[in-house]
Amino acid sequence: MTSLTDRKNAAISRGVGMATQIYADRTENAEIWDKHGRRYIDFAAGIAVVNTGHRHPKVIAAVKEQLDRFTHTCHQVVPYENYVHLAERLNALAPGKFAKKTIFVTTGAEAVENAVKIARAATGRQAIIAFGGGFHGRTFMGMALTGKVVPYKVGFGSMPADVFHAPFPIELHGVSVEQSLAALRKLFAADVDPGRVAAIIIEPVQGEGGFYPAPTAFMKALREICDQYGILLIADEVQTGFARTGKLFAMEHHAIAPDLTTMAKSLAGGFPLAAVTGRAEIMDAPGPGGLGGTYGGSPIGIAAAHAVLDVIEEEQLCERANQLGSRLKQRLASIREKVPEIVDIRGPGFMNAVEFNDVTTNQPSADFANKVRLNALERGLILLTCGTHGNVIRFLAPITIQDEVFAEALDILEASIVEARS
Ligand SMILES: Cc1ncc(COP(=O)(O)O)c(C=O)c1O
Repeated sequence: MTSLTDRKNAAISRGVGMATQIYADRTENAEIWDKHGRRYIDFAAGIAVVNTGHRHPKVIAAVKEQLDRFTHTCHQVVPYENYVHLAERLNALAPGKFAKKTIFVTTGAEAVENAVKIARAATGRQAIIAFGGGFHGRTFMGMALTGKVVPYKVGFGSMPADVFHAPFPIELHGVSVEQSLAALRKLFAADVDPGRVAAIIIEPVQGEGGFYPAPTAFMKALREICDQYGILLIADEVQTGFARTGKLFAMEHHAIAPDLTTMAKSLAGGFPLAAVTGRAEIMDAPGPGGLGGTYGGSPIGIAAAHAVLDVIEEEQLCERANQLGSRLKQRLASIREKVPEIVDIRGPGFMNAVEFNDVTTNQPSADFANKVRLNALERGLILLTCGTHGNVIRFLAPITIQDEVFAEALDILEASIVEARS
């Protein structure tokens, strides 16, 4: 009999990578059961999509109710009130004490594309600055902005012009805030006149790039640079949003507001929905018909997102994220005492990561991180790696995870890390 893996390999492009060979059958909150009835604890959450857990009852109830009324009219043809209401809610919730407007699209990459379109239309400028190690999606502008060549850009030809990269400040890897800002100033002197720059786009905590939080001093300096040169600041909150970092949006940690915020993933708790929210006058720069898309703001995604926002508030998921994150980091700190490969434990709220080096070379060890991941998978815990060097394990468990499931996962994690040493 042909295995599912063989069928997958025969039927699907290898370009779609797969972190596991588990075929999902059923999910609930932080657990996944596969086709053979084997249970896994999910510390990936569909890559940061189900912060409110798999199939949260409130999200599912909202979706079921919507299914019984209508599933698609295209908001650009026959609009619906829920779309308007969700925009009102996001305008009120997104960082920044100024009038805001929102558009809905379907994926994170599409949100990024649209933020760039809006920034260009609003400023009449072309250039965009992003950061090394950043990830912004797999469309052409998303790829161009992404600060990692393999596997995201290799073989895909010329990237859109006028995209520049500055180094992201990571003290652990020898790049201080001052060095990063100096590199930005050098970019302005050597490569692009700041008067031509439409926007700077940054993840408040780099996601795929390794879960490195941007220091507040850096964010404040970026805001000042943007104000000085009339550049817009775009916060890509696709991975950091919706209580993951202990705040609804990660930018709230810095007490400065971006001009535009991109969001997706956990916005709709497992249904495809993305958004751009920003200063009203900037959001209005593109002309009618310049923004949108057939499925943008699907009624199902919109209904789910309303429920997600309710759940985050009712279940106090920002506080819960902080509690879970500190328990995870404490446990990792105690594991570190016997595992010298651990060189860093970090991350705000429940957006945490552990980074590994080889003890003999003191160089990043993707091999060690991968061993931990595979050991955990064997024991029934799904983990994801990340980072430019692939030596980071990132933790993205649902914030609704039950205490006993969380405790079980921490025991598996410890055993998996310790075993990776042997
Ligand atoms: C920060 C960030 N931006 C954009 C994207 C792209 O989102 P999507 O995969 O929904 O297109 C991602 C996806 O991981 C992301 O983490």
